[in-house]
Amino acid sequence: MICRLLEGKKGLIFGALNDKSIAWKVAERATEEGAQVVLSNTAMALRMGDTHKLAEKLNTIVVPADATNVDEINELLSKTMEHFGGRFDFMLHSIGMSPNVRKGKHYSNLDYNYLNKTLDVSAISFHKIIQSARKLDAINEWGSILGLSYVAAQRTFYGYNDMADAKALLESIGRSFGYIYGREKNVRINTISQSPTPTTAGLGVKGFDNLMDFSERMSPLGNASADDCADYCLIMFSDYTRKVTMQNLYHDGGFSGMGMSLQAMQQYNKSFEYDKEHPFD
Ligand SMILES: NC(=O)c1ccc[n+]([C@@H]2O[C@H](COP(=O)([O-])OP(=O)(O)OC[C@H]3O[C@@H](n4cnc5c(N)ncnc54)[C@H](O)[C@@H]3O)[C@@H](O)[C@H]2O)c1
Repeated sequence: MICRLLEGKKGLIFGALNDKSIAWKVAERATEEGAQVVLSNTAMALRMGDTHKLAEKLNTIVVPADATNVDEINELLSKTMEHFGGRFDFMLHSIGMSPNVRKGKHYSNLDYNYLNKTLDVSAISFHKIIQSARKLDAINEWGSILGLSYVAAQRTFYGYNDMADAKALLESIGRSFGYIYGREKNVRINTISQSPTPTTAGLGVKGFDNLMDFSERMSPLGNASADDCADYCLIMFSDYTRKVTMQNLYHDGGFSGMGMSLQAMQQYNKSFEYDKEHPFD
């Protein structure tokens, strides 16, 4: 379904690595809905991934930037404004990475240099891109900025490691800056808390398949896919959500409202039966 929801709007999208990436789907759908987008990712991701292919398909430009580097962000924002001929309307922060997760470090034995990197890449970069955008006055009045989060910010999920801390910080930055940018320029800032999604970042989480299965069983509407997430992002960039700000919005098929579901209980019963039959396994 195409409604030209974003007709005439312009936006900057961080984090489209390949066609599994949530940002990839958002860029495709935003363009279908009438928006113009600029894509950005790290120089390394641009070499290893398919971002240039997406830019070709969407007939737009890619500007390399490490979202932890303020000079590179400023350069990116200036180039984006140059491309659009002025301010733009929305920004998607779809960035996450934890060296502790990558190197299999347990949460009780974190490497603190890695932790700093996790927080910088996955959360503080959200602050950096917003701070730079505000200083350069890059976003139009009633613009919309989104970050992508996960329910591990509120509850503990085995294997999610220091990314849980990063997501809690990301959501807090959304609220704190949402107040400032909202009051000054009516720019809204929200985070979307998305279901587990099989992307490059997602699949790096320990036990990801089990997490997906558990979450699918627990959610009355089932897991939200990357395509579903893109649709929600479009609504949040559109003029239909102009008064929504400083929120962490669950987009998870109902997972966050659940305690126990029949489907999960049935699965749990199976292993319970197995335990009774094999008490010493
Ligand atoms: N996949 C999931 O299960 C899931 C669930 C909830 C939230 N999220 C969040 O969604 C967002 C997008 O992740 P995804 O699942 O699409 O995975 P992805 O691997 O496709 O995207 C992550 C992106 O972050 C980029 N990135 C890493 N370091 C960067 C840096 N220093 N500067 C700029 N970009 C950098 C990567 O190049 C990549 O494009 C992340 O914030 C992730 O935590 C993912």
